[in-house]
Amino acid sequence: LKRIGVFTSGGDSPGMNACIRASTRRAIAEGLEVIGIKRGYAGMIDGDYVEMDRQSVSNILQQGGTILKSARSERFRTPEGRAEAAAKLREAGIDALVAIGGDGTLQGATHLANEHGIAVVGCPGTIDNDLFGTDETIGFDTALNTALDSIDKIRDTADAHDRLFLVEVMGRDTGFIALACGIGGGAELVLIPEMMTDVISIKDRILSLMAAQSRSSIVVVAEGDELGGAHRIRQALAEDPAFDRIDTRVSVLGHIQRGGSPTARDRVLASRLGAAAVEALLEGHDGVMVGIVNNDLKLTPMRNVWARKKDVDYDLLQLTALLS
Ligand code: F6P
Repeated sequence: LKRIGVFTSGGDSPGMNACIRASTRRAIAEGLEVIGIKRGYAGMIDGDYVEMDRQSVSNILQQGGTILKSARSERFRTPEGRAEAAAKLREAGIDALVAIGGDGTLQGATHLANEHGIAVVGCPGTIDNDLFGTDETIGFDTALNTALDSIDKIRDTADAHDRLFLVEVMGRDTGFIALACGIGGGAELVLIPEMMTDVISIKDRILSLMAAQSRSSIVVVAEGDELGGAHRIRQALAEDPAFDRIDTRVSVLGHIQRGGSPTARDRVLASRLGAAAVEALLEGHDGVMVGIVNNDLKLTPMRNVWARKKDVDYDLLQLTALLS
């Protein structure tokens, strides 16, 4: 192993820069050359490569986003696109890759490795926390704290007006962010895709909470919820005359959850995983993701991390009901 490529792909997440820094510095310390691949798989196909030294990654640990930039590449989804990428990597003398991203990124990396024999080790970088093989993904903790800060602020205004707020958080088709925000923000109800809910029981729950306490309520809705998100739920509630007297607002937190300086927890996680990815490559591992399980570093075959479903913690869901 002489020269490795490092890239970020898919939706960015806070801590990706800390991960790039850790991989780069760990590799350089072992005498490896490091190439930064810009714009994820799109830049990999275009040969948008930049040489990295220790200085290239200085002063980025605390920054959100990714200095290597990120993209979602349609071309890379095709075998032809992946063949172009592999040819460009070979041309640049890149022997192995550290792939930082979520399920789409690691799926792409699996195909690249299988079809073209390129050694890849993945690092879980996504706010969604939806990857099997790691208790936490890089960016999840920061996104949670950002969402919680917003929920706390919404709570103030909800309380002042005795309003019902439907707060929609990200998570694609999973409810990890929603569940943790629900607990941390004291939500009266949490709606996640992993738990089937029907409009009638949502209505009953809200009406009984608001009647009993005649105050504000916050419902945290995962964007991938079965009922189609916060706006749809609001429409469904509005069709019921019982909700005429309940002043309801929707707040979709959106991409604010992806930005900002990473929390201490994400910085430490990203640094550990970035360095571990390089160590795994040096030890000859290939086609695996480095994750954190019970605070220990763990390697999981890349296919499993996106093909196997990671379960939400159902005890937490129970807890939201018990505490609201
Ligand atoms: O995967 C991260 C994520 O932020 C999801 O939570 C969300 O569904 C999606 O990316 C949004 O993607 P985009 O920024 O491409 O709209």
